[in-house]
Amino acid sequence: MTMDATRQRFLMCRPTYFAVDYAINPWMDPTAPVDADLAIRQWEQLRQTYVDLGHEVELIDPVVGLPDMVFAANGGTVIDGKAMAVQFRDPQRADEAPAYRAWFEAAGFEMYDPKHVNEGEGDVLLVGDHLLAGTGFRTAHASHAQLQEVFGYPVVTMQLVDARFYHLDTALTVLDERTVAYLPEAFSPGSRAVLRRLFPDAIHATMADAEVLGLNAVSDGRHVVLPAQATDLAAKLRDRGYETIGIDLSELRKAGGGPKCCTLRLRQGKASK
Ligand code: ARG
Repeated sequence: MTMDATRQRFLMCRPTYFAVDYAINPWMDPTAPVDADLAIRQWEQLRQTYVDLGHEVELIDPVVGLPDMVFAANGGTVIDGKAMAVQFRDPQRADEAPAYRAWFEAAGFEMYDPKHVNEGEGDVLLVGDHLLAGTGFRTAHASHAQLQEVFGYPVVTMQLVDARFYHLDTALTVLDERTVAYLPEAFSPGSRAVLRRLFPDAIHATMADAEVLGLNAVSDGRHVVLPAQATDLAAKLRDRGYETIGIDLSELRKAGGGPKCCTLRLRQGKASK
C-alpha cells in the first residue's frame, strides 16, 4: 500500500485571547483554571508541526473578546475555491463569522452566505466525493441542502447523539479519500448504518480515545496529527500504515477543542490545486 501525503493549505488563529468564559458545550467549565500561556505554546507546537510536514499555514488575526476564535475549523467551509461563511448557534461566537468571512473574501475565495446555523468544517467534512454533514447540536439540518447546492457534492446527513461530541469533527476523522475513523456511539442508529455502508473498512475508535478528543485529528493522507492522549487510536492508525504525531492541546481541550478544531482546510479551485 502506498500512502501519499498531500500538501495542505490551512488557516489558523493564534489563541491570543483564549479563555473559557462561558459554557456552550459539556467540556467548558468557566470556573476551572486555564493556563493561557500554555495554550499558546501548545498551539504553536501544532502550527510548527504542520510547517515541518511541509504544509502551508495562513493566519487570521485574533479578535479581542472572541475567546473561541482559535477554533478556525468553525470559520467556514472552503472547497474548490468556494468559501461558505458560517452562522453560529450561540451568540457568544456570532462575531467570529464576519471576521472569517472578511478573511476569505480578501484571500480571493468565491463567497456564499449561510441561510441557517452552520458551523463550518466543525460539522462539514469532505471525504472523496461526499460531504458528510453533522447535525443534532450545532449545524441545522436545513443547511445541509444549501451545502449540496453551493458545493455540488452529495451531502450525507450524520445525526449526532452525544452532547460531548457536538461537532462532527469530534466524532469522525477523515484519513484519506476513502477512509475514516469514528466513534459509533456518537451517531444515531441510522447514521451508523450509513457509515457502515459507505466505509466498511473504517477504523472504530473507543470511547477512551473520543473522550480525549482523539478523533479531532488532521490527516494529510499519510501523517495523522492527533491528541497525544489518544494512544489506542494512534496504535490502530499505525497498524493501517499511517504515521501518527501526538500533540498535547490540554488547555484548548478545556473549551472542547483539539487539533482539527484549530485547523481549517483551504481547498483551492481545481485549476490552481
Ligand atoms: N468552545 C468551542 C465551541 O463550543 C469549541 C469549538 C470546537 N471546534 C470544533 N471544530 N469542534 O463552539
